Amino acid sequence: MATSKFPTQKDGSETFSQETAVVVFVLGGPGSGKGTQCPKIVEHFGFTHLCAGDLLQAEIESESENGTMIQNFKKEGKIVPSAITVKLLQQAMQLSDNKRFIIDGFPRNEENRTAFENIMKIEPEFVLFFDCPEEELTKRILNRNQGRVDDNIETIRKRLKVYFESTLPVINYYNSKGKVQKIDAQRSIDEVFEDVKSVFSKLKPVARVGSMN
Ligand code: ADP
Ligand code: C5P
Ligand code: MG
Repeated sequence: MATSKFPTQKDGSETFSQETAVVVFVLGGPGSGKGTQCPKIVEHFGFTHLCAGDLLQAEIESESENGTMIQNFKKEGKIVPSAITVKLLQQAMQLSDNKRFIIDGFPRNEENRTAFENIMKIEPEFVLFFDCPEEELTKRILNRNQGRVDDNIETIRKRLKVYFESTLPVINYYNSKGKVQKIDAQRSIDEVFEDVKSVFSKLKPVARVGSMN
């Protein structure tokens, strides 16, 4: 049977379950390297990468009813209402044939965190936190060159403010529960990944749902 990397429909052979799902949240300031490191985690450790920002961008591009509103939030560096983001994450998880997920750029604030908890009823295994100084974040974003509407100095300032005021408290919350794995992200991509690897290597291997062995 043909398989697709981005299934739009499940074949019924396996179901997503909140009881068996393994979730790792990947957080860090804008430009800290979340989107750079996550594909490496996928390649080495068999997780499925869900990027909240990319799911929202796909909504903008699909011209869905919320598209214009999401685009306006993005341009302003504001956090989109959690009901929208959690629904997108839930749909992506339910459509996946994997039960291990790295969720990148989420939860961005307390509202994101509690909405996910209440709707999904899943506690993250741990939170991978890419720690990087503000100056380096700004430099990286200004060099990112991916044509993003929010990669300009004015929006970057707003996003950094949101990060310090709303996302850091979420990281602190998980830190108080002993769930944060902090990585020094101000090093080369390969050096950062060496640390990421050692964090994920400690995880118990989990057989992929639907695998034959
Ligand atoms: P995030 O997803 O956290 O916003 P990205 O992974 O998109 O960040 O990285 C932002 C920019 O910084 C990209 O242009 C990326 O190539 C670059 N970058 C990522 N990691 C590093 C690193 N360790 N050193 C230097 N540049 C990096
Ligand atoms: O993570 P990324 O930098 O791609 O996010 C881009 C934008 O998407 C954020 O600045 C924000 O406007 C929106 N976003 C959000 N809620 C999230 C993740 C991203 O509103 N959990
Ligand atoms: Mg990213």
